[in-house]
Amino acid sequence: MTRVASSVELVVYRDDCDPAGRLTDAAFLRLLERARWEQLGSIGAGTGMSRSDTSPTVRKATVDFHAYAALGDRLRIDTALVTMGRTNFTLRQAAQSPDGKMIAEAELTFDCLTGDGEPAPVPPAIGQAFGRRPSVRASETQHLAVRGLAVALDIQGDGNPILFIHGFPLDRTVWRQVMATLTGWKRIAPDLRGMGLSDAPAKYAISEYADDLAALLDALHVSKAVICGLSMGGYIAFDLFRRHRDRVRALVLVNTRAEADSDDARRRRDEMIALVKRDGTGALAEVLVPQLLTPWSVAALPHVVEQLRGMISGNPLAGIVGALESMRDRADSTDLLAAIDVPTLLIAGREDRLIPATTSRTLADAIPSAQFTQIPDAGHLAPLEQPVATSRVIAEFLEALE
Ligand code: MLT
Repeated sequence: MTRVASSVELVVYRDDCDPAGRLTDAAFLRLLERARWEQLGSIGAGTGMSRSDTSPTVRKATVDFHAYAALGDRLRIDTALVTMGRTNFTLRQAAQSPDGKMIAEAELTFDCLTGDGEPAPVPPAIGQAFGRRPSVRASETQHLAVRGLAVALDIQGDGNPILFIHGFPLDRTVWRQVMATLTGWKRIAPDLRGMGLSDAPAKYAISEYADDLAALLDALHVSKAVICGLSMGGYIAFDLFRRHRDRVRALVLVNTRAEADSDDARRRRDEMIALVKRDGTGALAEVLVPQLLTPWSVAALPHVVEQLRGMISGNPLAGIVGALESMRDRADSTDLLAAIDVPTLLIAGREDRLIPATTSRTLADAIPSAQFTQIPDAGHLAPLEQPVATSRVIAEFLEALE
């Protein structure tokens, strides 16, 4: 039987660093790739696994940076197989310094393609080289049966529960960095139906998403949670408050609005549905990335751009169309605002072009005793663009609840 190294050690060289001697984000991704090839090499993987034969191509990438690595550091990189399908697989990689400090973690989903771009079976070498190992620290993604669907979710920590609801057309990993910092809380982040790794059924509506989440809380034996919704996640949070009021301990509403779609906005939803049906989810990613992120984020945060593209283009068509129809047809929640009697925090990206900060300010003014915060240098996706600042304001709000 082939023996496999459990990890690979790689040194950070000058070419990997910025002028200050710190490992750059792009070089970190190259180090991870080197670690994968070295690990494959260590089992003598050849057949069906050369760069010119079946090539695994990254479809989704999530990278969480925890600390800087510097010139000369010797990093231990662990790689573990998270899931393996017929033509795709997901790896989790963690890089640690010699004293065990976590430098960064990444989750990468690969599609296997032939030289002609056709889907190809995952080479057996992948399973041999990266068979599941316990040494990678990140929280495990679980699947729970909820209302007849397999719902994927990440759960981290113990304590009072906080439920994170992602926006459109994203998945649970948009919360990864924020979740990593909120220790002392039980952080729950599911993929909504039709997104990420959750099942994509035929039926979609804001009320369906909210009912899924109430049922998910039941399955986890959570009676009440702080509900934290990003954009479409906020539309769902309003519906939870309207119809599952007893489950809501407090609200954190990020880059969201209470109004229903205008006629113009409904027309744009139909245009987007037509675009994604005609040109695919990759085309939708091209349209949305510059709308969701600030120009600065697009230029300076390549790993965020990569993660966002991966989330959008990796989501199933049925889920994307279902979400667009759900948002197009959603009810107006402005009548609800005066009745919101739980602690509420509104967070706006100062440069959000989809939901301007002034809209969030008006929303905050309509909710009795809501707090309002703007995050500088953030567009529509504050938790991805400015995770540290976003985590800090959420942590302060949560502390006051305890
Ligand atoms: C989201 O981020 O969830 C969407 O942009 C919300 C919307 O399109 O209304």
